[in-house]
Amino acid sequence: MRFVVEPMRLGDIPTVSAIERLSFPQPWPQSAYRREILENRMAHYVVARVLDAPAPVRASAPEPQPQSADRTEDGLFGKLQRLLRASADPTSGGAEDRGVVGYAGLWLMTDEAHVTTIAVHPQYRGKHVGELLLLHLIDHAISVGARWVTLEVRVSNEVAQALYRKYTFKEMGVRRRYYSDNGEDALIMWTDPLDSEHFRRVLEQNRAALRQRLTEAG
Ligand SMILES: CC(C)(COP(=O)(O)OP(=O)(O)OC[C@H]1O[C@@H](n2cnc3c(N)ncnc32)[C@H](O)[C@@H]1OP(=O)(O)O)[C@@H](O)C(=O)NCCC(=O)NCCS
Repeated sequence: MRFVVEPMRLGDIPTVSAIERLSFPQPWPQSAYRREILENRMAHYVVARVLDAPAPVRASAPEPQPQSADRTEDGLFGKLQRLLRASADPTSGGAEDRGVVGYAGLWLMTDEAHVTTIAVHPQYRGKHVGELLLLHLIDHAISVGARWVTLEVRVSNEVAQALYRKYTFKEMGVRRRYYSDNGEDALIMWTDPLDSEHFRRVLEQNRAALRQRLTEAG
């Protein structure tokens, strides 16, 4: 399978939302994604598309029940996110099914880049799509001059933590009972400085290995 990462467009939002509902217990309304794309100059959202296989989700698919949980949010950043989430959702129709199997987002705040969300459709997990998305976000953060990338992750989310640790994210603190659905703690994770020799070496090693794996996978 071949994947490509591209900027998220309005027509992607219904499919993104369907993946979101499969991935998080408190999904954002579609209007939040519309605003992120149309109004938030700090935001950078992307989707991963599969080029040579049927997409697993169509925007018209019935709403599934949430299965797993995570979201990164905090402080001013988190408050803004919650405001967006609390708003009504006027988005409907206009869906394009263009093979979206995952998505991710970043907020750029001075020299820090905050990963706001990252998710892959359950049928496409374990195929390096999440890593491809994270690598894209990191490349974007570097390209606009960020010095670190940070995020929050549930203490129970070992899969996501393993992905983050691979890219030098380390636990720098805990927010107690951060997630309101179950009172779970959030780990606050930060990368090494993006301009450090160590980070660049890890990044390029991971990039080369990912390229190799994706090439082998077709
Ligand atoms: C977290 C998530 C985005 C990872 O995406 P993915 O496409 O499945 O992951 P990848 O195939 O790219 O794997 C990349 C790395 O993640 C880790 N990983 C992936 N699956 C794993 C598993 N089952 N067990 C442990 N580590 C795993 C590994 O470090 C892996 O690198 P490796 O293959 O060199 O060992 C995906 O599981 C997901 O959408 N989860 C639900 C939403 C979520 O929790 N988002 C995170 C919010 S903070």
